Parts: sequence; C-alpha cells; structure tokens
Amino acid sequence: MSFNWLWPYVRRHRRAILAVMALAALTSALSAVQPYLSKLIIDDGLLGKHFDLLAELCAAIVALAACGFALGALNRLLYVRVSGKILFAIREDVYSHILSLPPRFFRIRPVGDIVTRLDGDVAEIQRFSTDSVLAVVNGVLLLIFSAAIMAAMSPGLTVVAACILPLHLLLRHRARRHVSDSTREVRESRSVITHFLVETLGAAKAVQSAGAERWERDRLSGLNQGLLRRVIRQQLVGYTIGALSSLLSHLTTAIVFIIGGWEVIHGSLTVGTLVAFTAYLARGTNSATSLMGLYTAYQRAVVSLKRVQELRDAEPMRARSAGSRSLAARSGPIRFQDVSFRYPESEQALFEDLTLDIAAGSKVVLFGESGVGKSTLVDLLRGFARPDSGQILLDGVDLSDFDLQSVRRRIAVLETDPLLFRGTILDNVQYGHFDAPTDRVLEVARQTGVEPFVSTLPEGYTTELGSRGAGLSTGQRQRIAVARSLLGSPFALVLDEATSNLDMAACHAMHALIDRHFEQQTRIVITHSPDAVPRADRILELRDGRITERECASAYA
Ligand SMILES: Nc1ncnc2c1ncn2[C@@H]1O[C@H](COP(=O)(O)OP(=O)(O)O)[C@@H](O)[C@H]1O
Ligand SMILES: [Mg+2]
Repeated sequence: MSFNWLWPYVRRHRRAILAVMALAALTSALSAVQPYLSKLIIDDGLLGKHFDLLAELCAAIVALAACGFALGALNRLLYVRVSGKILFAIREDVYSHILSLPPRFFRIRPVGDIVTRLDGDVAEIQRFSTDSVLAVVNGVLLLIFSAAIMAAMSPGLTVVAACILPLHLLLRHRARRHVSDSTREVRESRSVITHFLVETLGAAKAVQSAGAERWERDRLSGLNQGLLRRVIRQQLVGYTIGALSSLLSHLTTAIVFIIGGWEVIHGSLTVGTLVAFTAYLARGTNSATSLMGLYTAYQRAVVSLKRVQELRDAEPMRARSAGSRSLAARSGPIRFQDVSFRYPESEQALFEDLTLDIAAGSKVVLFGESGVGKSTLVDLLRGFARPDSGQILLDGVDLSDFDLQSVRRRIAVLETDPLLFRGTILDNVQYGHFDAPTDRVLEVARQTGVEPFVSTLPEGYTTELGSRGAGLSTGQRQRIAVARSLLGSPFALVLDEATSNLDMAACHAMHALIDRHFEQQTRIVITHSPDAVPRADRILELRDGRITERECASAYA
C-alpha cells in the first residue's frame, strides 16, 4: 500500500517543516555538548584544580540548557501546528469524499466503522505524529552527535557499544507482526463497539419497545470482553518488547563500565572521559530505545493510516464525473427511456426497458406492492443509482449531462419520516439553501404551515431540535421538509409514501398544501392508496418492472 497520496498535504507546509527540522538539529546539538562539558569539568577543572574554569563551565551548562529548553518549546509549538493542519486537512478531505459516495457504500459499511476511522484512527495518527515524529528527528540527531563525540573520545568503547545495537534492531524486527496484528485487532474491536453504540442509541426507542435493554447491555458486555482481551494482548506485546530492550541497554552499560573501568585503572583513559562516555552512552541508548519504541508506535500509526486510506480509496460514484449543466428551477418533462436496472447484489433485474413519460407540471400517482421498485425509480431519477442501460431525460436533456448536486436540489423528495438535523428550526428550513434571505425563509415557513406550531414554542424559530429532529411530530417535520423543498424552487416534487403515517385529515391537508404551492411543478405521488390522492392527472401502477396506466377516478380528477 502506497502512501504517496500524503505528499501533497506535507508539501504544502514544507517551509514550516524545514524550520522545524533546523530547530530540531540546533536543539540536539546543544544537548549533545552537555556531557562533553562535564568531562572538561572533571578532567580540567576538578583534577586540574582550575576553579575559575570550573565555574565558567558550570555557567555554560546552565546557559546551554536554558537555550535548549526555549528552542525546544518553540519547535514543539511550530510542529504541533503544522502536523495538526496536515491531519485536519486529511480528515476534511476524506470526510467530503465519503459524503460523495453512493448509498451502496453506507449500506456495506457500518457508520460506527466510518466514525472510528475518521475519529479514532485520525487521532491515533495525530498522536503519533505530534508525539513521535519530532522525537524521532531529535533522537536520530542526538544519536549521531553522541556517536561522533563518543568515537572521538574512545573508538574502542564505541565499537563495543555499537555491537549491541543490531540486537535491538533484531528484537524489534521480530516483534513487528505481533505489534501490527494486535493493533489492528484492537482497532477493529473499537469499530464494532462504536457501531453498536451508534446503532442502538440511535434507535433507543425501538430497543425499549422490544424490551431488549438487558439483551443489548449483555451484547455490549460481550463486545467489551472481546476488546479487553485484545487490549491486554496488545499491552503484553508492547511491554515485553520494552522490557527486553531495556535489558539490552543495561547489559551495554555494564560491559562499558567493565572495559572502560579496566582502562581507567590502568591509566589509558581519564576519569572524565569515562564519565562523559557513559553519559553519552546513556543518551545514545535512550535515543536508540525510544527510536525503537517509536518504531512500534509507527507500526500502529501505519495500521490507522491504512484504515483511513481505505475510506479514501472507496470508489466514488461513477456519476460523479457527470456533466456540469444546472437543472432549471422551472418544471419540464421527465422521461425514462428503455431504462434497465439491476442492483449489483440481486440476481434479477428490477426494470427492463422501462419507458415512462411524465408531462411538465402534471401530478402523477404511482402505486405498487412493496419492493416493486418505486423508491428505486426515484433514486434513478436523482442519480443515486445509474441505469444499466437506457436514458433518463429531464427537460429533454440526459441526466448524466447534469451536475448531480443541482438535480438533487431541484428534485425534492418528501419521505414518510423526514430526517432533520440537530439545530434550530430555522436552520432546518434553510438547510441546503444557506444563502436564502431570512425574509424568504419565514415567508415559505408561513405558506407551508410551519408557522402555527412554531409560534406555540417559547423560542419560536430558534428552538433547538434534538438529534434527527427529535421533539417534533412526523407531521411537523414534514411541514419543515415541504418548506425546505419550496425554498429550493424545485423542478419536480416526489412524495414517497409521505402521507402513509398521517391520518385522513392530515393527509388531505398535506395534499392541499402541495397542490397549492407546487401547482406549476411536476409532482410524483408514491402511495399505497391511489384513490385517496386528490386531483391526480394520471394513476400508474408499477408491477413486475412494468408501468400500466389506470383510469383516474373521475371524482378526484
Ligand atoms: N440498495 C439496494 N441494494 C439491493 N437491493 C435493494 C436496494 N434497495 C432496494 N433493494 C431491493 O430492490 C427492490 C425494490 O426496492 P424499493 O425500490 O425500495 O421498493 P419500493 O419502494 O417499491 O417498496 C426490493 O426488493 C429491495 O429489497
Ligand atoms: Mg419505497
């Protein structure tokens, strides 16, 4: 799997990144000088009995440390800013990519999984990049500086210390599979739990109606146990690796003290050099082990990165590369011409060579058994699905020549249970038509009967709705949805079983409302009771993928 797609994000900030690297080099160099100063203090100041020199060297140590801290803080600040910008840009792009995907994607992939990837995995990458990348740069530089100074002080001891390094590498390498496997398992468990929470909490009432509270709780408990097992395994893997490499470091220190101590005792090494050398060694191995630890963190981040990348690689809708024409605000004829369509998951075609003409401004009733494909027809009309063959023409122009956004805005659909969003009532009326002037929004709300129930609410239009529009009845939500459609000056309006949850009176009121305000628009009314629809121009039945026309009952025509 290639991460080339990340480059453009990084390249945008290359100046800031270069500045970060330069600062890191400076900080590491400052920090690398410290042990050498202590060697001078011991050998020249202490053993050479130069008190002035000793005091100056001590002052230098403090001054260098202060400089180092200041530069380090600046560097960290710069770095967190850059890496945050990069990651958030990635998250925003992946998010808008997901929003462009067809319904199929959301059917296959649970929302919880998407949420975990966009939230948890991006946070994991961010944690790695904020905590670790800078540490890697500092660690590598410090390691190089320390190694150079050590080699200059005592080449022999440096070789001894260096011999142990490959063992560290070997250890990390062998552990690699365990680390990435255990990480992936933990992340997958988290996805499942998030999905579980999103699904059951989103349908709390259904759970309560079924009396399944206990059962769901037990289900969560089962999922939790699975997660716990996996987390423990992940921790165990991490701990074992950490312990083994720490043991290797202690081994190195012991060997250096034995060999170096022997040299000091026999006069071939100064005390100051041995002290400074072990200090460098401690720093060096510290950097080396933390680098190794970062390797583990890196592997975890890669797992997360791959999970985000999978979202990014989810194939966009074919129709996205559609044309650029905008669908007009006034109505026009709709034509399905020899349209064939089959869902990829299903064996049988839903429509074969279906042809249907709907005149501009007419009101057409469409009925048929559940599952014959009425809603699919509407999805085809709005580009949520594409015909396998044949054409759909809006105002004489092929659907694929249109910009899909304009098609979806201009062909409004009113569903049985309209989905609203968290936000005020006004926001919800205005949703999708964000630049509509407030006067116009209020006027439309008045026309569509939103006003009467809003005026009974203490906070009126600024009343905050709960998630998915909780707090309003279906009929009230529908009026908001009608207002929203009207605001968009639609080309056509589809009622997909919109009145099936309303009583007779509310149903008639809804039709009267629609007929009054959408008189000029093409209206397609999908229903189970075609005879209850007033003033229909045509009544069509969909059966076995075919449309047949029925006489309109004269009383209503
Ligand atoms: N996204 C889908 N993937 C696969 N099959 C689907 C999908 N949506 C609907 N179907 C199937 O296609 C048929 C028509 O569905 P639909 O258009 O919703 O029918 P209707 O609205 O007439 O009740 C049904 O058998 C349904 O199970
Ligand atoms: Mg349907």
